[in-house]
Amino acid sequence: MSAVESPDLEPRAANGVKKRRNSTILNPRSYLTTELWKQAPVLKGSTRFEPLADARNILVTGGAGFIACWFVRHLTLTYPDHYNVISFDKLDYCATLNNTRVLDDSPNFTFEQGDITSPSDIKRVLRKHKIDTVFHFAAQSHVDLSFGNSYQFTNTNVYGTHVLLERAREHGVTKFIHISTDEVYGDVPIGAADLAETSILAPTNPYSASKAAAEMMVSAYRSSFKLPLITVRSNNVYGPHQFPEKIIPKFIMLLQRQSKLLLHGDGSPTRRYVYAGDIVDALDTIFHKGTIGQIYNIASKDEISNTEICHKLLNIFGLPHSTPAELEKWVQHTEDRPFNDQRYATDGTKLSHLGWSPKTSFDEGLKITVDWYWRFGEVWWGDISRVLTSFPVVEGTEIWTKEEHEALPSDSEEGGVEENGTVWMKRALERLNGA
Ligand SMILES: NC(=O)c1ccc[n+]([C@@H]2O[C@H](COP(=O)([O-])OP(=O)(O)OC[C@H]3O[C@@H](n4cnc5c(N)ncnc54)[C@H](O)[C@@H]3O)[C@@H](O)[C@H]2O)c1
Repeated sequence: MSAVESPDLEPRAANGVKKRRNSTILNPRSYLTTELWKQAPVLKGSTRFEPLADARNILVTGGAGFIACWFVRHLTLTYPDHYNVISFDKLDYCATLNNTRVLDDSPNFTFEQGDITSPSDIKRVLRKHKIDTVFHFAAQSHVDLSFGNSYQFTNTNVYGTHVLLERAREHGVTKFIHISTDEVYGDVPIGAADLAETSILAPTNPYSASKAAAEMMVSAYRSSFKLPLITVRSNNVYGPHQFPEKIIPKFIMLLQRQSKLLLHGDGSPTRRYVYAGDIVDALDTIFHKGTIGQIYNIASKDEISNTEICHKLLNIFGLPHSTPAELEKWVQHTEDRPFNDQRYATDGTKLSHLGWSPKTSFDEGLKITVDWYWRFGEVWWGDISRVLTSFPVVEGTEIWTKEEHEALPSDSEEGGVEENGTVWMKRALERLNGA
């Protein structure tokens, strides 16, 4: 029995013959078989507040992705009589409807497929569901990809945010919570003080630059149009349901396959990590107790280097790594990112005044995460083999290893039979139609 129900999505030429492109096409609409998805734990946060009188219909963009799916499950299941949750997602390569399948029978949950860069999609969903509150998570979120595909990051993260803000302004909302990242502050030198929300933004890679640019648009809409905005800047988030392109799930899946961990550069950069269940509680807190116009850091004290992640996972998997020879068996250093911030460090005092602090220690959260990927990591998204390579290349929902992508024919060569055929057909149709 196959673990997933998935339509045949291999690329086909116009004549229906399968084209071999040496790639994987992920289908976010693939459903795990009933027997399997029912075994998955229903993961959400732990907070519950007095529901807000002026919030009823909540749009969550990026709801089939990692962090937003946790938030969608939390809101839908914690406030069933108060909030209607509309998950809005383009279903990009990293998304899967398995992330919210458990909610499909909940009367206060709806999924809408759409693109935040489409003003008409946004207008439609805001009107159809009489949206009063927006949580904006949807983004191109993977730094590694932003070095190769940066236009896509500007388009989704900056223009997409602009479209949402403009449509929200026209429609009128009571609250718009914009999810940003600690990466907008840029590199924080070792020993420097943790950064408060008033610190300047100094992004260093196309992803963080696009998130910082989106924040500028948010700030402009707050000043110009008094849109009721709150911005949230979180540390790195980890936990079950994260697409295994990010370091923690990727390394777990590599060890499960008894493959080497592909560590960028010398492995020394550190990140601070928040467990997914904890960020959901932080967002629930900000939603119910935060002040319009404010920016909140969601900050953890668990600062871990990439090398330490390797060691912690090798410990959990019971793989010896105390000698250089043992370590070499499991860790392979690869080329680094073109630029890799050494560390991010943010100060979470402001949010702590609203009553939030992280509950899950890194070691505890990592163990829960390993357990989940052990059971579901290989079946949740489809074939992730190419995702687990160093610097894979993604176009739409199609994924190559870096080497395979470099070996592809160039655009002009690839145009070949099918593309030229399409161009000729288009021209002939134009002629026939008298254009
Ligand atoms: N993961 C982290 O460590 C982290 C840390 C801080 C902030 N953030 C921010 O949190 C948000 C969510 O991050 P994540 O890690 O869950 O991301 P993710 O990549 O897992 O999910 C992003 C989702 O957005 C959807 N999406 C992409 N483009 C879209 C479009 N044009 N229209 C509609 N939907 C679209 C995707 O299909 C996907 O479901 C992002 O804004 C990210 O910048 C993430």
